[in-house]
Amino acid sequence: MWLGGHDTNLTLPWVFLISYTHMPRRIETILAQAGLHYQDITAVSSRDVIPPLHLSTTFERGSDGSYPGGFVYARHGNPTRALLEKVMTDLEGGADWSAAFTCGMQAVTAVFLAFGAQATVLLNQELYQGIRLLLDAPFGSWGLRAQVVDMTDLGALEVAMARVFADPATARVLLWLETPSNPMLQIIDVRAVIAMAEGQARLHRKDFVSVLDTTWLTPYLLQAVGPLRIDLTLASATKFLGGHSDLLAGVLTGRRRKLSHATGTTFLDLEAPIRQLQRHAGGNLPPFEAWLLLRGLKSLPARMRTHCENAHRLAHFFASHPRIAAVHYPGLPSHPGHAVHSAMMSREGLSGSMMAIQVRARDGEGEDGREEGAEVEAMVLRVVARLRVFRRATSLGGTESLCEHRRSVEGAESRTPWDLVRLSVGLEAYEDLEEDWVQALGEEG
Ligand SMILES: Cc1ncc(COP(=O)(O)O)c(C=O)c1O
Repeated sequence: MWLGGHDTNLTLPWVFLISYTHMPRRIETILAQAGLHYQDITAVSSRDVIPPLHLSTTFERGSDGSYPGGFVYARHGNPTRALLEKVMTDLEGGADWSAAFTCGMQAVTAVFLAFGAQATVLLNQELYQGIRLLLDAPFGSWGLRAQVVDMTDLGALEVAMARVFADPATARVLLWLETPSNPMLQIIDVRAVIAMAEGQARLHRKDFVSVLDTTWLTPYLLQAVGPLRIDLTLASATKFLGGHSDLLAGVLTGRRRKLSHATGTTFLDLEAPIRQLQRHAGGNLPPFEAWLLLRGLKSLPARMRTHCENAHRLAHFFASHPRIAAVHYPGLPSHPGHAVHSAMMSREGLSGSMMAIQVRARDGEGEDGREEGAEVEAMVLRVVARLRVFRRATSLGGTESLCEHRRSVEGAESRTPWDLVRLSVGLEAYEDLEEDWVQALGEEG
C-alpha cells in the first residue's frame, strides 16, 4: 500500500509517476500547487486546477470486484482527506505518513489509544491545558500514567526520566513535548531531551515514542521528524495550518520507525494502530474540512512570514514600553530560551507569532481594595477592553490578531500570572497593531 487512505493495493498510475518525478521539491511550491501535484488521488476527467471536494461515502467496484479507484468506504479513506494527508507528510519533510482527525484533541486521543495502557506519559509542567485534563480523565483511570516535570531544567528532567524508565510498572514511555509552551512560551531543548531519553531507553531496555506538538509553529517553521529525531508531530490544524479560524482539525505526522532500544528490532510504528483507529473508530477529518484545510495550506508560508514579522516588531515595541513588565517571545535575545529556540527553527529569523506580555499597573492604580490577584486581573482586563484591532477571543493562528487573559480562562488550578495576556499576532498592517496597544496602554482608566 503506498497511500494510507487507500484500501487496496494499487499500482502507481503513470500520471502520478510523471507528475511526481518532475515535481519541484521546495515546500512553498508544493503547498501553492497542492491539488496539482497529486491529481491522481482526486482524479476527475475535468482536470481541475483546484482539488475537487469528494463527498461520496462509498466507492464502486470494478467488474473484477476490485476497487480500481483505490477507495472503499469513506471512514476507511476519502480522496480529499488522502490528498491532505499526503501534503502534510511533504510539509513535515522526513516523515512517511499523516493522519487527519476532527480536531487536535481527537488526534491526541488517537495517540494515547494507539500507545496503550501500562505506559507513562512524561510531560512538561507547562503545556496546553486540555492535554493534562485528558490524561486526568479518562486516560488516567484507563492505565496511562502522567509524570509532570519542568523540562526546561535538564537536571530535574534527568532525575524524573530515570525514575520513570526504571519503574517496573511502566512498560514504555511516551515523551510529550510542546515548545514554545502555552501560555508562557517556555522553550524545551528537544535535541537534548531526545538524546537523554535514548540513553535511558538503552540503559533500561525499554522503549519510548516522542511526540512534539507543533501547533504554535507549524512544520513550516519547525521541521521536527527529520532534524530533531521526533517520531510523531501533532498539530491542531484549527490554528495556523488552517489559518482562517473557520475549521477544526488535527493532524498527526510520523515516521516509520527506528530500532528498538530494548530488542534491537524495529519498534512501535504507531502508524498501524492509528490507521486501525481511523478505519474502525472514526473521528476522521470530514472532506469539507480537509478541503478547507488544503486551501489554507496553500498560503501557509506567506502567512507565517507576515505573522512572524509582525510579532517580532511588536515584541520589540513591548520590550521598551514602560507599562510592560515582561515580554515572553523567543525571538527576543533577552528570552532565556532564545539560543535553543533559534537553533531548532527551520527558517532563520522567523520565531513564531505567539507571545505573552505581563502588564504593569500605572502608579497608584490597582488599589481598589480587592485581593491582590483580583486587582491585577481587573487592571489587565481594563487594558485589553480598550483594544480595537486586537480582538478578545480564545484560539490563535487566524489572520486576525487575538488576545486572551489566560488566568481567567484556565480556572482555579492555573499557575499563570494574573498580569499575563497571551497574543496571537495576525496579518494586519503592523502600524495598526502597535497603535492599538499604544492607546490601550496609555489611556487613563
Ligand atoms: C498547543 C495546542 N495543542 C492542541 C490543541 C487542541 O487542538 P483543538 O482545539 O483543535 O482540539 C490546542 C488548542 O488550543 C493547542 O493550543
